[in-house]
Amino acid sequence: MGKTFKIAVIPGDGTGPEVVAEGRKVLAAVAARYDCHFEFSPYDLGGARYLRTGELVPETVLRELEQVHAIYLGAIGHPEVKPGPLEVGILLKLRFHFDQYVNLRPVKLYPNVETPLKDKGPQDINFEIIRENCGGIYTGAGGTAHRGTPLEYATQVMTYSRAEVDRCLRYAYQRAARRPRRSLTLVHKMNVLTAVGELWYRAFQEMGEKEFPDVKRDYAHVDATTMWMIKNPEWFDTLVTANLFGDIITDLGAMIQGGMGIAAGGNINPAGVSMFEPIGGSAPKYTGQKKINPLAAICAAGMLLEHLGEAQAARAVEGAVVKALESGKIKSLAAGRMGLNTEEVGDLVAGLI
Ligand code: IPM
Ligand code: MN
Repeated sequence: MGKTFKIAVIPGDGTGPEVVAEGRKVLAAVAARYDCHFEFSPYDLGGARYLRTGELVPETVLRELEQVHAIYLGAIGHPEVKPGPLEVGILLKLRFHFDQYVNLRPVKLYPNVETPLKDKGPQDINFEIIRENCGGIYTGAGGTAHRGTPLEYATQVMTYSRAEVDRCLRYAYQRAARRPRRSLTLVHKMNVLTAVGELWYRAFQEMGEKEFPDVKRDYAHVDATTMWMIKNPEWFDTLVTANLFGDIITDLGAMIQGGMGIAAGGNINPAGVSMFEPIGGSAPKYTGQKKINPLAAICAAGMLLEHLGEAQAARAVEGAVVKALESGKIKSLAAGRMGLNTEEVGDLVAGLI
């Protein structure tokens, strides 16, 4: 008898519910085939609820989410809510509350997927970005003073403790050590951020030397990294970086792997409750039109399985996505140009499990 996993589902806003439904369809196909079972519990969080009730993540919901094996998230973001409250009050709230200190974002170009990079193919674009996910400038340390006066100033500080850096680096080294190339690149900006960058660099070197001597170490400044990701993506295997830099370079990564239609990520607490999501937004203009690409959400479901220790089932999801792409039935990964609708893409992948 296989395991039963409790999965909290947060479909969220915009096209979130549509893509999550397809991810669940694929998980149901997995359950039928591989002996693992899922109990889904849906949670209504997002901009719509916030506008209706003023609530972001109620305490009672947090208590319930603490009891699940993983969280599956669609998208958060509403055109009628100004930037800030939903991102901070829901997405960051969950990341911080569950101490999901790693944001794992694979950048992998699958066959038959168009990349904007000329002369680059799947053999060139296959790396993983490990973004620190609970610290740095995202913690919001700082504030505004003398607001609205000529003396107004604002600060938002990039803070990192050695412990925060070390735990993220350890996860990255462990990941890198399991990949064939065993190479880890630290991405930072230590030529300017001489305090916090130097801390990352020193911790990176010390841990590598002592604990992971078999992993090749490299360092790149974040600005140069954006250049190399375009020019020589094949140089990269595993990258580790701070929260803000990771936010920026993973959007770039998503574009070179074929766009937001395929980019997935996991907000991971290796010893706690982790949350998996397509990394694109809520795409409000496509809401309810069945035009949005569910592959990113499906890939996120695959990552969720891997995280739960269901490696074979996880490989089956990735394999089915690859077969679906190889079939040529999906004309493009862009919303509205797939040649199939959202549900048909989900059916195609589920049928290939
Ligand atoms: C992401 C998003 C979030 C981030 C926003 C919505 C808070 O851009 O998941 O990359 O900056 O982390
Ligand atoms: Mn982002």
